Amino acid sequence: MTDIIGIAYCSKPVGFSFKTVDEILTVSQRNNLQAALTGALVYDNNNYLQWLEGEPLEVRAVVERIFQDDRHTDIKLLTVNKLKGRWFPDWNMTAAVTQDETLRGLKLVPHLSLANFDPQDWSEADIVSFMNALSDYLTRRPAPKSELMPDNGSQRPRRVDPLSHLDRRLRNIAPDTLS
Ligand SMILES: Cc1cc2nc3c(=O)[nH]c(=O)nc-3n(C[C@H](O)[C@H](O)[C@H](O)COP(=O)(O)O)c2cc1C
Repeated sequence: MTDIIGIAYCSKPVGFSFKTVDEILTVSQRNNLQAALTGALVYDNNNYLQWLEGEPLEVRAVVERIFQDDRHTDIKLLTVNKLKGRWFPDWNMTAAVTQDETLRGLKLVPHLSLANFDPQDWSEADIVSFMNALSDYLTRRPAPKSELMPDNGSQRPRRVDPLSHLDRRLRNIAPDTLS
């Protein structure tokens, strides 16, 4: 059986508006349905934090497009995980704005806060924990188990091309399918 992976990245909106987010979501839901991708987009006017899950090559294909989109910048890949099952199985792309009531019910670890939402500064463990809590909350059941995919890269500058970063980590999962 093909592995399902879940990845998260964050970025900064360029010219944020709710209309832009609506447009992004409409296209995402259509494309992601075709590619059997599911996930969540958490946002406010300063940040996007997106979780995408599906087969590795489908995830990579959409991420390559997303990373070239000029409606956001400062893209940082945050985590790549192998999943025992989908965390957002019912949503080709659900969305939650950080100020929204929706997120008040999340059981977050104490040091995480949505008040000064800045996922750029969160650790990989924090990102996974946050997405796990969002999944539990939306699906009303515990998220399937996940396993962090190691990053075998050598020391590198803090800002690295996010797609190369993804490829490096995907090689641990799908070595035959990536050149
Ligand atoms: C923050 C952000 C998240 C996005 N998420 C998705 C997504 O999950 N799926 C998707 O197909 N496109 C997503 N997009 C849009 C893509 O960058 C791209 O515009 C779109 O996939 C092009 O689709 P089309 O060729 O069908 O017009 C996102 C864009 C941004 C800025």
